[in-house]
Amino acid sequence: MDTTPASPAAATASQLSVVDERTGTSRNLPIHDEAIDATELRAFKVAADDPGLVSFDPGFVNTAACRSAITYIDGDRGILEHRGYPIEQIAERGTFLEIAYLLIKGELPGVELASWEASIAERSKLPDEIYGLVKAFPKTAHPMNILIAGVAALGGIYPDARDLSLAAAREEHGMRLIAQVPLIVAAAHRHGQGLDFVPSEPQRGYVPNFLNMTFAGQEVDYQHTNVQRGLEVLFLLHADHEQNCSTNVVRGAGSSDADPYSCMAAGLAALSGPLHGGANEAVLVMLREIGSLDRIPDFEAGVKSGKRRLMGFGHRVYKNYDPRARVIKKIADKVFEVTGVNPLLAIAIELEKVALADPYFIDRKLYPNVDFYSGLVYEAVGLPAAMFTALFALARISGWVAHWLESWVDKDRKIARPRQLYIGSARRDLPANA
Ligand code: CMC
Repeated sequence: MDTTPASPAAATASQLSVVDERTGTSRNLPIHDEAIDATELRAFKVAADDPGLVSFDPGFVNTAACRSAITYIDGDRGILEHRGYPIEQIAERGTFLEIAYLLIKGELPGVELASWEASIAERSKLPDEIYGLVKAFPKTAHPMNILIAGVAALGGIYPDARDLSLAAAREEHGMRLIAQVPLIVAAAHRHGQGLDFVPSEPQRGYVPNFLNMTFAGQEVDYQHTNVQRGLEVLFLLHADHEQNCSTNVVRGAGSSDADPYSCMAAGLAALSGPLHGGANEAVLVMLREIGSLDRIPDFEAGVKSGKRRLMGFGHRVYKNYDPRARVIKKIADKVFEVTGVNPLLAIAIELEKVALADPYFIDRKLYPNVDFYSGLVYEAVGLPAAMFTALFALARISGWVAHWLESWVDKDRKIARPRQLYIGSARRDLPANA
């Protein structure tokens, strides 16, 4: 047992001085990057065989799991930046593949853009087995289940999926994922609608090709600039969001050196839940259920009494307006000029107005998040609500690839393995006749 006498005054400006009142010992814990190393807590023990203190943080509310140089968020001020570039400028002037490159490589592509786009285009075809797999699902299957299966299956199809030792091999997997996920998403949509698959024509461009594979032959004005740019901006807004639930899962799965297709499938599973990427679908379901403006007060009362949540509101990190939701409101108008206004928009706007003036939401700092308005745009374009999360995933795959690649070269990387506070039974013996 450490019996260092309590002397908090000895701590320097970059140390946290902690006194363990159980033993009277004190320790100065070094502070680096505004964080303490949680393993330092192990030194606080009450007996020599005590494993020492752990920190308890369900949901990682205040625990940094890695160092990352990809995305910066200041949730109190509503700031989101990728590699230093503000999301507002990215949404205004970026293209999806350019920003995917930025996320992955750290800098804008510049003259490299054409060869990067060509590399993605070259890989923009799906093995036949994946089309067969999509077809094997019932037409009623949720597109996220199809996508999870399709992405996991790629790992079984590519013989080199477990060849991860070289950076070039890892980048190859990343490019394949960015190229092929949109094809699986489009195939899932066509399958659900009972329509034939449309072959990939990557020379159209990344977003136009996706829209063509999804909508060809349907009554959707998907070639209109406002629709194409609207979708591209939605993809840009969803490309990355640092250590959220699904990205943490991708990095966690990757920490065991699992193949990247399995890691992305794990991320997709995490994304699919209604508290995360599934919220965009849940918002539409909620708006439909509310149905008319006069039913908003009843609905809000139900939220405030804890019976349900206002989907598309609230965020673990943003305690201010989600900057992505602001951008979506602007692009929605442009898309609605072509498609007509989604009739649910009026309910969403009123719901937001009422919530932002209500002490329940004000006190808890609950604002609209990215999922509040995105579904209205997707629906206006002609996508069923069940497809919304798959669209989120299509865009987020670029962020996951960036994080997966970054974690491979992170000198601090360790297999993800949290501790627990055991609350079960003490040791006991099985009955002799069991
Ligand atoms: N409606 C009503 N009350 C809410 C909501 C909501 N949407 N979100 C949080 N609260 C309340 C919650 O009940 C709690 O109140 P109290 O302090 O009285 O117990 C307080 O606000 C803090 O909530 P929390 O659950 O501790 O917050 P969290 O950081 O753990 O959860 C969240 C974040 C996003 C899961 C949550 O806000 C939520 O469920 N929102 C609705 C689902 C949603 O829109 N998800 C998309 C998130 S953004 C995009 C993405 O991640 O994919």
